[in-house]
Amino acid sequence: MSSRPTILVTGGAGYIGSHCCRALDAAGYQPIIYDNLSTGHRSFAAGALVVGDIADKATLARTFVEHDIVAVMHFAASSLVGESVVTSTPLAPIPPAASASCARSKPTSSRAP
Ligand SMILES: NC(=O)c1ccc[n+]([C@@H]2O[C@H](COP(=O)([O-])OP(=O)(O)OC[C@H]3O[C@@H](n4cnc5c(N)ncnc54)[C@H](O)[C@@H]3O)[C@@H](O)[C@H]2O)c1
Repeated sequence: MSSRPTILVTGGAGYIGSHCCRALDAAGYQPIIYDNLSTGHRSFAAGALVVGDIADKATLARTFVEHDIVAVMHFAASSLVGESVVTSTPLAPIPPAASASCARSKPTSSRAP
């Protein structure tokens, strides 16, 4: 287990998230990537990868138990502009409750880095 402060990065296999993980690593943090790989790429993952959806509370909770996470950076998103203009049906949004579940999965006794 790393002694570096561990940051959960949702959407960490995507464009912005993967750059964020590299920056975190360079700054002395341990990124844990949490991504459902819907638009992300396994090869982008710069650190440990947990494949999961932010709406999947059980996998999120297990991830918080397995890693001593001190903060969450949230980049999981359906953000492809092309997809939003070619489809005739509305994109299914990531429900706010799913994003909030990331925060609720954190045990109450937080440890600041
Ligand atoms: N790309 C830009 O220039 C830019 C600029 C400013 C802000 N942003 C914002 O940054 C965020 C990420 O954008 P991006 O360009 O990196 O997009 P992206 O599609 O490259 O990355 C999004 C990641 O989220 C993952 N994901 C999607 N739904 C998920 C879910 N339900 N559970 C878990 N993972 C899920 C995808 O697999 C992907 O890896 C968005 O909120 C976007 O609006 C992007």
